[in-house]
Amino acid sequence: MKVKKLLSLVLASAMALSIGCSGGKEEPKGEDSGDKKLVVGYAQLGAESEWRTACTNSVKEEAAKRGVDLKFSDAQQKQENQIKAIRSFIAQGVDVIGVSPVVESGWETVFKEVKDAGIPLVLVDRKADVPEDLYACYLGSDFVDEGIKAADELAKLIDGKGNIVELQGTVGSSAAVGRQEGFLQRINEKYPDIKIIKSQTGDFTRAKGKEVMEAFLKSDGENIQALFAHNDDMAIGAIQAIEEYGKKPGEDIKIVSVDAVKGAFEAMIAGKLNVTVECNPLLGPQFFDVCEDIVAGKEVPKVIPSEEGVFRQDTAAQELPNRKY
Ligand code: AHR
Repeated sequence: MKVKKLLSLVLASAMALSIGCSGGKEEPKGEDSGDKKLVVGYAQLGAESEWRTACTNSVKEEAAKRGVDLKFSDAQQKQENQIKAIRSFIAQGVDVIGVSPVVESGWETVFKEVKDAGIPLVLVDRKADVPEDLYACYLGSDFVDEGIKAADELAKLIDGKGNIVELQGTVGSSAAVGRQEGFLQRINEKYPDIKIIKSQTGDFTRAKGKEVMEAFLKSDGENIQALFAHNDDMAIGAIQAIEEYGKKPGEDIKIVSVDAVKGAFEAMIAGKLNVTVECNPLLGPQFFDVCEDIVAGKEVPKVIPSEEGVFRQDTAAQELPNRKY
């Protein structure tokens, strides 16, 4: 009798163990395995640039590859749309929420709602000005460092002296705030003969970049030695404005921008853009690694940086075939 009882106890614990393991990492997830699919809500901020399109594609392709049920939302650069999307992800009971906040401020209330619902939140690409306990981690670039790199490159191009104009990204976005901070800090510290004579937002878009550059040229056209654009799309718009004004972009006005999208390499090969500082949009694989780790109960670092370089005209033709975005 005792032996029988012992045997059934061993059997029961073996069964319990095997149920516990079936949700682990070794087992393939997806419909065929019978396991519950990972459900992820991703509140993308918009589709304003080549960079953003590459980022969205990276997330969607990686979700499809891993069999993740991705709830994707494009907020068209409006914070209220992102907030609505996040609330709908809460209502749907997703496993993890990813957000690329269009601006830094104004997130505390909705992020608290996410926390109260017990859903982990990952900041993808853009930061938010909230207490650290409201998100699991930030995955993306060091925007301040990008601004510092851009300042050094521009200073080299104009031998440490001259007038610069700046096209900023979306007002209040962590990308624009960080890039401007790094750029200004470096110019002030190291290059006393460089002056930033105009600085305005071009909202990270080609059309706005062109429009604002036209205005800069109208008021100071003969007085500008260089342009710092917070992204390649605005630089490409500005290149058109400079040509229409009758000057040679890349020669009469040196240009440094950020992102390193294919369009920037083409402009460098044509001699119209001098340097692009890389900002990596291919965040899909790292994002879903983090989601899976969080759901598996693993600890994840608070900041996961993406690796980035600097590309100049002299290597643009050689690099272009290697570019994935
Ligand atoms: O947050 C990254 C920035 O957002 C990219 O530099 C820009 O192109 C995009 O719109």
